Amino acid sequence: MLHKKTGSALFTEIQNAFIGLDTQYTLATGETTKRIYLDSTASTLMMKPAHDVVEHYYQHYANTHSTLHFGAKISTDYYQWAHERMLSFLGANPKTYACFFTGSGTTAGMNRLARVFKHGRPEKTTALVSIMEHHSNDLPHRKHMEKIIHVPLKERNGKLGCVCIDMLENICKEHQGQLNYIALTGVSNVTGIMNPIYEAAEIAHRYGAYMIVDGAQLAAHVPVQMCNPKHPEQNIDALVFSGHKTYYPGSPGVVVARKDLLLSVEPEEVGGGMVQDVFTENYVVKSTFPDREEAGTPNIPGAIGLAVAIDILDRIGMDFLFKEEDKLIQLALDKMTNIPGIRIYGETNTNHCKRVASISFNMKDLDHGLTAAILNDYFNIAVRNDCFCAHPYVKEMIMDDLMSGVENIEMDDIDDYIELKRGMVRASFGLYSKDEDVHALADALMEISKNAEKYISHYHVDASGNYVHKSFRFDIEPFYPI
Ligand code: ALA
Repeated sequence: MLHKKTGSALFTEIQNAFIGLDTQYTLATGETTKRIYLDSTASTLMMKPAHDVVEHYYQHYANTHSTLHFGAKISTDYYQWAHERMLSFLGANPKTYACFFTGSGTTAGMNRLARVFKHGRPEKTTALVSIMEHHSNDLPHRKHMEKIIHVPLKERNGKLGCVCIDMLENICKEHQGQLNYIALTGVSNVTGIMNPIYEAAEIAHRYGAYMIVDGAQLAAHVPVQMCNPKHPEQNIDALVFSGHKTYYPGSPGVVVARKDLLLSVEPEEVGGGMVQDVFTENYVVKSTFPDREEAGTPNIPGAIGLAVAIDILDRIGMDFLFKEEDKLIQLALDKMTNIPGIRIYGETNTNHCKRVASISFNMKDLDHGLTAAILNDYFNIAVRNDCFCAHPYVKEMIMDDLMSGVENIEMDDIDDYIELKRGMVRASFGLYSKDEDVHALADALMEISKNAEKYISHYHVDASGNYVHKSFRFDIEPFYPI
C-alpha cells in the first residue's frame, strides 16, 4: 500500500506512477513506440496517486466560501491543509510566513511580490536579478521597480556558471541605500545550474534588502529550507513556485512570503473572500491569510492535488530525490559530452556548479528546431527548443561561443550564425526519468551526429521558419477527446 511506504520503496513505486509514461505515437519510420518525455522543465507529468485523491475528492467538491454544508466543510479543511503543507514542505515557519495560491506558474506570484515590495518601501527603487533569469523573474521587476540590475555570472574556460557572489556583494554595497530586494532563481530553467540562494540571502540582508527566490525549477528537485534557525540571516523572505512543474499540472502557482511584508500594503487583487466588511463608501480587508491574498474562488482541486503530490515528495524525502536526480544528470552529462559536434551550454563540471534537471545544447550545423524535430519524429523523444523564456541568458551563451572561438565563424557570417543558433535544445528530467531514457537520448544524438545529412534531407523550412518533414504528417485528430 502506497500510504505505508516512505523513502526509496515509495520512490520506486512512484517512479512508475505518472500519467503519460506509456503514451505511444507513430513515428516517421512507421513504427509505433513509447514516448520518452524529456520536457519536465517545461511541465512535469501528472503524479497519478495525487490525481486519484482529487478524483475521490470531487465527490465532495464545494466552494470554500460556503461554510456549513458537509462538502463545504471537507473542501475548506482540505484547502487549508494544502496551504499548511506548502509551508512545511519549504521549511517556512507558519507563525512568520503565509502561503497563498495565484495564477498557474510563478509569473502571477512574482508580479504580486514586486508590487508589494515596491509599495512597501517606495524609497528603495532598485532590485537585483541575475542574467540567467526566466522572464517571469525578470520582467515583473523591470515593470514594477524603477531600476533593475542584472548580476553577472561566474565564468570558467568560456562557460558560464552560477551567479557570482562577489559581484553580487559589490553591487549591493554600491546601491545599498536604494536596494529593495534581490530576486534570484534557485535553478536555471535553461542549464539547470543551481544558485547559492542562502549566501545571496545573507548578502541581501547585510545590505538591508529582501531575498525573493524563484523556485520554479527548485521545488520538485531540491530540498528547500526558507527558515534556518541556526542562521536566520540566511532566511528567504519570499519564494514562488509552479504547481505544473511539481507533478500536478492544472494546479496553481504558490507564493510563500513573510506575513509582515504582505501586511504592509493592501493586496492588489480585490473582490470576494478577502474582505471583512463592505460598505458603499469603503471596505475592510481581512488581516488573515490566505484569505486576504486570494480574492475570488480559488483553484481548490488543483491546490489539493498539488499538496498531495508534495506530501508524497516529502515522504520519499527531498534529500533522497536530490541525490537520485544528481546521479541521472551526471550520467546524462557524461554521455552527452562524448557526442561529436555537441555543444553543451553552461558549466558542465558539477564540482564547480551543481546542475538540476536541465541540459541545453546544440548540434554542430543543425538548427535547434531541426534537432528537436528529428528527436521527436524519428526517436519519439520529447524535448523543448528555442530560448525557453530566458532570452538574455541564451543570447549571452551563444555570443560567448563566438567570442571564445568555440565556433569558427567568419565575421561576415556572424549574423547568419546568430540567426541559426538563436536557440538551443533542452533535455530535462523529472523523478520518473530513468537511466534508459538518458541512454536513448544519447544514442539518438549519436545517430543524428553521424547521419546529419540524411536527416536534414527529410525536412524543408516553411514560410514561418518551422522545420516540416517532407513526407511524414502527424495527425492530431484521433487524439481529440470529443
Ligand atoms: N518556463 C517553462 C520552460 O522553461 C515553460 O520551458
